[in-house]
Amino acid sequence: KKVVLAYSGGLDTSIILKWLQTEYGCEVITFTADLGQGEELEPARQKAELLGIKPENIHIVDVREEFVRDFVFPMFRANAVYEGQYLLGTSIARPLISQHLVKIAQQHGADAVAHGATGKGNDQVRFELSAYALDPAIRVIAPWREWDLTSRTKLIEFAEKHQIPIAKDKRGEAPFSVDANLLHTSSEGKALEDPAAEAPEYVYQRTTSPEDAPDTPEYIEIGFDKGDAVSIDGQAMSPATLLAALNEYGRKHGIGRLDFVENRFVGMKSRGIYETPGGTILLEAHRGIEQITLDAGAGHLKDSLMPRYAELIYNGFWFSPEREMLQAAIDKSQEHVTGTVRLKLYKGSATTVGRWSDHSLYSEAHVTFEDDAGAYDQKDAAGFIRLNALRLKLLAARNARVRQA
Ligand code: ARG
Ligand code: SIN
Repeated sequence: KKVVLAYSGGLDTSIILKWLQTEYGCEVITFTADLGQGEELEPARQKAELLGIKPENIHIVDVREEFVRDFVFPMFRANAVYEGQYLLGTSIARPLISQHLVKIAQQHGADAVAHGATGKGNDQVRFELSAYALDPAIRVIAPWREWDLTSRTKLIEFAEKHQIPIAKDKRGEAPFSVDANLLHTSSEGKALEDPAAEAPEYVYQRTTSPEDAPDTPEYIEIGFDKGDAVSIDGQAMSPATLLAALNEYGRKHGIGRLDFVENRFVGMKSRGIYETPGGTILLEAHRGIEQITLDAGAGHLKDSLMPRYAELIYNGFWFSPEREMLQAAIDKSQEHVTGTVRLKLYKGSATTVGRWSDHSLYSEAHVTFEDDAGAYDQKDAAGFIRLNALRLKLLAARNARVRQA
């Protein structure tokens, strides 16, 4: 039996690796993705080898461009935000990881994939729905739902028994659980579980606090082509390079921090601290370019679909017909979303201060309060208002009549 494990190289997934070997008697194949989490991946290779994985069974893949181009950017075309605030940084990475797990499983003739998500969260749902959508015959092993290593003490005992190296700071209780990639860092659990208590500053890992950010604003210009960001200050960049550059601006100016209580798909509420520096700038800029290039009808329809689209991604339905239907509509809306946005970055905020485009629908001739040289006949508005008011007047008259009777 062979199983492909989503392996970070950390203590928990190393324990899972050993557990799959010893309890399931499986041959383990590891997949470690560089999603831009900012960690060296060579140590993961060494650790996998140390734990007895054959070199040909170790897969370490740089998926940063793929992640931003095929997952993050399509999602940003929709301005997707879950429950009004969360930019879905973890949610959007899970289908990509599953896609690679399934592909590697097929290459090796493995019949199962395994992940290190707990039985309480969203991530298990996302990994597994994606895997089943891509390969209906695949088996999924979720050790956290099966094993009896139910406490930190038991985990450490298991690790010691199997000679798994344990970093000193991992011996005690981990202070909180972190997930990171090019789009965001999320921190949840433990020290953050009381939603009434402000998170300590040390939780924040990729942004300076707005209080400590520079006292002078900085301006940048982001160029868009058909809804996707393609340049900063006139310099063309690949998707991952561009997002990484925006992360640096965001880090410096303390942009994209969020302290949030959300509804997990599995029924409970949870509190998380999120840092999405580049993504927060990108969302603001994308809305800025849409302001002048999107038609009102298309834009309002798109905005009404957005919460549904965001929920699909949050709940793990990236590979579903309904997400693909919405994506097709959203992508169609982006045909003219091309142009440039100028942003001001200052102490925690990114504000659009200018936007221009050859595809602009903005007509100064129509909107001006000065002489519009006949572009717009103000008399037309009188009939427009009269007909729109008609039913409101009939309603008001009926209500007055009934009140009197
Ligand atoms: N609550 C967020 C989400 O569901 C973040 C999950 C973080 N995952 C983790 N393994 N720490 O998307
Ligand atoms: C986990 O349970 O593994 C992390 C949190 C989540 O998936 O929502």
